[in-house]
Amino acid sequence: MKKMGVGILGATGMVGQRFVSLLEHHPWFEAKWLAASDRSAGKKYGEACHWRLRSPMPASARELEVHECAPGNAPSLIFSSLDSKVAGEIEKEFARAGHVVVSNSSNHRMDPDVPLLIPEVNPDHLALLRIQRKNRGWRGMIVTNPNCTTVGLVMSLAPLERAFGLAKVLMTSMQAVSGAGYPGVPTLDILGNVIPYISGEEEKVERETQKLLGQLVDGRIRSGQFAVSAHCNRVLVEDGHTESISVALRKKATIEELIEAWRGYRSVPQERDLPTAPKHPVVVREEPDRPQPKFDAETEQGMAAVIGRVRPCPVLEFKYTALSHNTLRGAAGAALLNAELMKSEGYLD
Ligand SMILES: NC(=O)c1ccc[n+]([C@@H]2O[C@H](COP(=O)([O-])OP(=O)(O)OC[C@H]3O[C@@H](n4cnc5c(N)ncnc54)[C@H](OP(=O)(O)O)[C@@H]3O)[C@@H](O)[C@H]2O)c1
Repeated sequence: MKKMGVGILGATGMVGQRFVSLLEHHPWFEAKWLAASDRSAGKKYGEACHWRLRSPMPASARELEVHECAPGNAPSLIFSSLDSKVAGEIEKEFARAGHVVVSNSSNHRMDPDVPLLIPEVNPDHLALLRIQRKNRGWRGMIVTNPNCTTVGLVMSLAPLERAFGLAKVLMTSMQAVSGAGYPGVPTLDILGNVIPYISGEEEKVERETQKLLGQLVDGRIRSGQFAVSAHCNRVLVEDGHTESISVALRKKATIEELIEAWRGYRSVPQERDLPTAPKHPVVVREEPDRPQPKFDAETEQGMAAVIGRVRPCPVLEFKYTALSHNTLRGAAGAALLNAELMKSEGYLD
């Protein structure tokens, strides 16, 4: 199959670099057009980008020119990992000009006519695109993936919601520093410390969880019918967000049944064998001290939610630990899987 050339907005950032790296050997898509701020525009990518990944910068990207973030000669499929201060307007401009924008940024996630997607969880929400086209009169479209903390939480909750129904959810996160972009949190703020505040994060996690686990009814998302409370903390970990989660369910269940629901969870990306789909979207570890970000964040190429320490909760009903990779499953990998789902549904033809 001839590969489709794609563009990346914010290609020089933490998430942008993940896109460049994941696209190097992608069977369907190829990074052909890169863009960033006017600090980088006009330079070669190799010169403009302060590469922070352990794998080397792909040779194919090094010589590409970095463009300004304006449509024109950009390819029709655009991944966006722009700073959220500027993403909102730039993404709309591309959609208006006919581009399919698959975004990581938070700006449009909660727009009622914009799909907020985890392909394993709510692939049917893509149908909102028909409403979006009608409402906005755009030739293009915008699709988003959730916040990097929401994704691990929702991948762990979706099998429970499907099998038993959710009543209450309480989540406390320990979030990696790479989640704050580059250069991110100053060393003197985070070294030997925990920061119990990430601006806007708790509200995002609570709202996005309700939208992702909501039902599409008559062209609108009816939010999930359960209560969610999030506590978000920044810790001195490089990659991988760890979450302590307690849940109350609507139907009676045992710990064995929860584990069975997680281990057996498969969905559209697995059925269609999409290139970035993990074989096992939810992995359950038996050891009493796992998952840990250092050892488990890259499980299934960083695309799985890893669960462990499943036990009774004296306040709600059950508690467990979940871990997911924040720049892979929580950002670039998530957007890539969204685009693969869209291709498999004919949205990119
Ligand atoms: N890091 C994560 O784990 C994560 C997870 C999920 C979602 N996100 C979201 O993804 C987006 C990118 O995050 P990141 O961590 O990659 O941030 P980052 O490392 O700070 O990168 C930001 C990117 O935006 C570009 N940019 C900044 N100001 C711009 C402007 N005025 N015009 C055009 N481009 C501009 C930067 O270009 P220059 O290099 O030229 O300045 C850079 O390419 C954010 O919206 C973030 O909330 C991040």
